Amino acid sequence: MLTIQVCVGSSCFLRGAMNVIAEFENIIAHYKMDDLLILKGNFCLERCNEGTTVKIGEKVFTGIRCEDVNGLFDNEVIPAVFGVK
Ligand code: FES
Repeated sequence: MLTIQVCVGSSCFLRGAMNVIAEFENIIAHYKMDDLLILKGNFCLERCNEGTTVKIGEKVFTGIRCEDVNGLFDNEVIPAVFGVK
């Protein structure tokens, strides 16, 4: 089970974290991957000045906008879940 954490601390919240979470939810539903992933909000991941912060497994990504989620999913989540790159 892979965990995706989206920071919902105040800085990330103001920079669109809820939209990022909504986009992850849409994609996870689209691919019917609910049983393979845990998506959760997390308080400050200590990268506040770098935009919305997302942690996928142990990898941290900053400055994530709603429109980045699809690429992040294709390049990071799918390979991590299915072991392909
Ligand atoms: S508020 Fe998101 S990293 Fe601090």
